[in-house]
Amino acid sequence: MTKLRVQSFAISIDGYGAGPRQDLEHPLGVNGPELMEWFFPTRVWGRMHGQADGEGGIDNEMAELGFAGFGAWILGRNMFGPVRGPWPDDSWKGWWGDEPPYHTPVFVLTHHPRPPLKMAGGTEFRFVTDGIDAALAQARAAAGGRDVRLGGGVATIRQYLRAGLIDELHLAVRPVLLGSGEHLLGGIDLRFLGYECVKSVAGERATHVFLRKRDPSRVDPRRS
Ligand SMILES: NC(=O)c1ccc[n+]([C@@H]2O[C@H](COP(=O)([O-])OP(=O)(O)OC[C@H]3O[C@@H](n4cnc5c(N)ncnc54)[C@H](OP(=O)(O)O)[C@@H]3O)[C@@H](O)[C@H]2O)c1
Repeated sequence: MTKLRVQSFAISIDGYGAGPRQDLEHPLGVNGPELMEWFFPTRVWGRMHGQADGEGGIDNEMAELGFAGFGAWILGRNMFGPVRGPWPDDSWKGWWGDEPPYHTPVFVLTHHPRPPLKMAGGTEFRFVTDGIDAALAQARAAAGGRDVRLGGGVATIRQYLRAGLIDELHLAVRPVLLGSGEHLLGGIDLRFLGYECVKSVAGERATHVFLRKRDPSRVDPRRS
């Protein structure tokens, strides 16, 4: 069964998944890169940027998990780029250059229609305007039996969490304070929604926490 998985999603210790005021110079929002300082030194990041070097180790192993076994991705429109409102033209093609690191169909949630965009290396951005269930159904169909990775950003993950549609989440918890920005879990009762922490691994620059949606047939009523 195809799972919907969040992998390698970084949050600060005060719970933010992006800094405030995203724009062209600040793809992750102001101070947002501090969230990714566990990922930037890894071999996985190096490989994504055509570099042969990069650190091995636990953070790298955790990053590798994010690229194994996925047949499609789902992104929110702000993760795709800083353009807001109706698309002025088709010139914005994502942050990642001509060959984005996805190599699969990528379903971008937006209220503003746009034709699909084929990129080098097998990535095709398809813009979905009819909501999270439609995006998931299309991604599952495209994934060919492999899992679907929910890349983010924050608002998109929050919607899928509230709908109880995410099977597994891997959060990379960074020991930094952002103070403001996009909060990942505020106001969402994950326990009530049936999630539990199943594993935690100390990496070099982040603590990796794995959450899973409990199988409803195994829910212990004393814990709900
Ligand atoms: N911490 C990490 O590991 C990590 C990973 C990925 C991204 N990020 C960061 O997260 C930030 C982006 O997150 P975000 O919360 O600002 O935005 P987001 O989730 O990427 O995108 C939100 C936008 O997507 C569209 N959208 C979402 N749900 C929709 C729906 N059901 N129907 C139609 N359109 C829908 C809407 O755009 P329109 O209405 O404008 O079309 C909405 O404003 C960026 O700074 C990014 O770099 C962080």
